[in-house]
Amino acid sequence: MRIAEFALERFFARWEFAVRHLLCASDVEGYPMADLLALADPESRQLWDALRLGYTESTGHPLLREEIASLYDRIGADDVLVFAGAEEAIFCLSNVLLGPGDHAVVTWPGYQSLYDVGRAAGADVTLHELREEDGWDLDPERLIASIRPDTRLVVVNGPHNPTGMLPTHEQWTRLTGELAERGIHLLSDEVYRFLEFDPNDRLTAGADALERGISLGVMSKSFAMAGLRIGWLATRDRELLARCAAFKDYTTICSSAPAEILALIGLRARDTVLARSRTIIDANLGLLDEFFARRSDRFRWVRPRGGSIGFPRLLDDESIDVVAARLVEAEGVLLLPGSQFGHRGNNFRIGFGREDLPEALARLDAFL
Ligand SMILES: Cc1ncc(COP(=O)(O)O)c(C=O)c1O
Repeated sequence: MRIAEFALERFFARWEFAVRHLLCASDVEGYPMADLLALADPESRQLWDALRLGYTESTGHPLLREEIASLYDRIGADDVLVFAGAEEAIFCLSNVLLGPGDHAVVTWPGYQSLYDVGRAAGADVTLHELREEDGWDLDPERLIASIRPDTRLVVVNGPHNPTGMLPTHEQWTRLTGELAERGIHLLSDEVYRFLEFDPNDRLTAGADALERGISLGVMSKSFAMAGLRIGWLATRDRELLARCAAFKDYTTICSSAPAEILALIGLRARDTVLARSRTIIDANLGLLDEFFARRSDRFRWVRPRGGSIGFPRLLDDESIDVVAARLVEAEGVLLLPGSQFGHRGNNFRIGFGREDLPEALARLDAFL
């Protein structure tokens, strides 16, 4: 397999642990391990205390799968397959569903593996471009028009990385209805689900919306536990799930035993865990709104509808790549230029899930 270098991950490999302030992180501030264990109910505490570090069930711990299934309306434990993060799930699913002669449509700019793994598997991929002048809105009619007789998969990520786009209920119903009618699989990347700013905007999960809908979830973002490396696919298409499970035999075989139990604890205590994430995000979003209102001569800010990231544009003539390089040098604050997504505008990703955002933003302000 020949696969394009993952630009964003290479960028983070260079910078993530070398800068003082990651003002472009996509996850929420990591949950403290001690606080998580304090949330364990008696059963999961017992599982943790008695844990043996052998191999685990390849499909995922049955209790974990059951807990994941409870996030959906029409999904049972056997409709869930656990992976090492969302990334492994994307890799397996794209390889299983796509090959030479197949076509996929994927929202863009976006998380690179959502389109480049399919390409590396030999598929032809059409990027459904989200445009700032449309408020980064998904355009179901334009997307549907790009579907071809050989289209096997449509990939939509919402809340979206990097724009914070979230389809409206009307747009989602239109798209999922059309895909159901045509029998096309939908990969709904829902890794920022539960971080909708207005809970009424939360969409029907992809796995619930259509039989060939596949929901992608992970502990990393809304649940603030990226270090667990626990993600999952949920779908009523059991045959597809079985093929993904067989592919996983060549990647990780099974998940980390401690991580599965910690994920179980986190999901069972999800009201507490998610409330913490939303509190961090709400406070940070308020600061960003104030900052971008005051600095409207320098930035254009399309306010996200959910998630922990947005994609503002620097209005200066100078390139954001140059400005970001100077900023990190001067203040140790990292922004992610849109060029890392292959985007040509002067946009950059800003993350607002971290607790040091007030200081990072103050440093950016001073730098400006
Ligand atoms: C939209 C999207 N999907 C998938 C992933 C992969 O998640 P993980 O790193 O937890 O595997 C990310 C990570 O940034 C993401 O933003």
